[in-house]
Amino acid sequence: MPDSQTGPKHVAIIMDGNGRWAQTRGKPRLFGHHAGAKRVKEIVRACPDVGVKYLTIFAFSTENWKRTQTEVSGLMSLFRRYITGEMKDLIAEGVRVRFIGDRPRLDAKLIKLMDSLEDATSENDKVHLTIALNYGGRDEVARAVKEMARDAAAGRLDAETVDETTLAGYLDTRVLPDPDLVIRTSGEARISNFLLWQSAYSEYEFIDTLWPDFTKDVFADCVARYGVRDRRFGGVKA
Ligand code: FPP
Repeated sequence: MPDSQTGPKHVAIIMDGNGRWAQTRGKPRLFGHHAGAKRVKEIVRACPDVGVKYLTIFAFSTENWKRTQTEVSGLMSLFRRYITGEMKDLIAEGVRVRFIGDRPRLDAKLIKLMDSLEDATSENDKVHLTIALNYGGRDEVARAVKEMARDAAAGRLDAETVDETTLAGYLDTRVLPDPDLVIRTSGEARISNFLLWQSAYSEYEFIDTLWPDFTKDVFADCVARYGVRDRRFGGVKA
């Protein structure tokens, strides 16, 4: 269990507000997503300075396919560009990258790039960056339960022994600690199907800043505010 007197080890972020940021500038929504991608680079680099070891970001949800074809394909090409453009620096800077979400629905070229970035950074340990891509918390639990049912049917899992740890071990996030702090930008106070299981005891921070304006100083402020919170995990104050 994390120590409430220290900073958050794992921060998860719902990066919201790219569209509004672009609209207020009279630009297409994709302009906001490009600005958002620059912030991703900045925030990943700021993690060691603020003591954050694990950063998980919500890049594309299982619901985001409902957006226009132009926006969806623009986002997919932005993800491909991010991976090809950042690969060298992420390796050199000690960032280990993982992707969570339902991969098979993504296009083959993107999946290949995701696999190669995971492989190329697999020895890194300075910062653990997890990118949620075609991710939904309910979908993740449903996929985990399906896999458990398969294992039970094949005699690899005894249903009577199933507990919370068993289920957590089937989730996409099985190798990650639970997030200590979940931040959502842009003034919306919803979790939108992000890390539903994992955030059971997380602290939440809903801030008005739109994601393209989320600088490393804003990030540092969120981390500092977490440090003065009193987390009791359902217990009582010591
Ligand atoms: C939500 O803002 C944002 C998204 C659905 C996409 C997030 C993607 C990025 C930040 C791009 C870069 C990511 C990586 C990993 C390189 P919105 O478009 O829903 O904003 P709105 O609520 O103002 O319309």
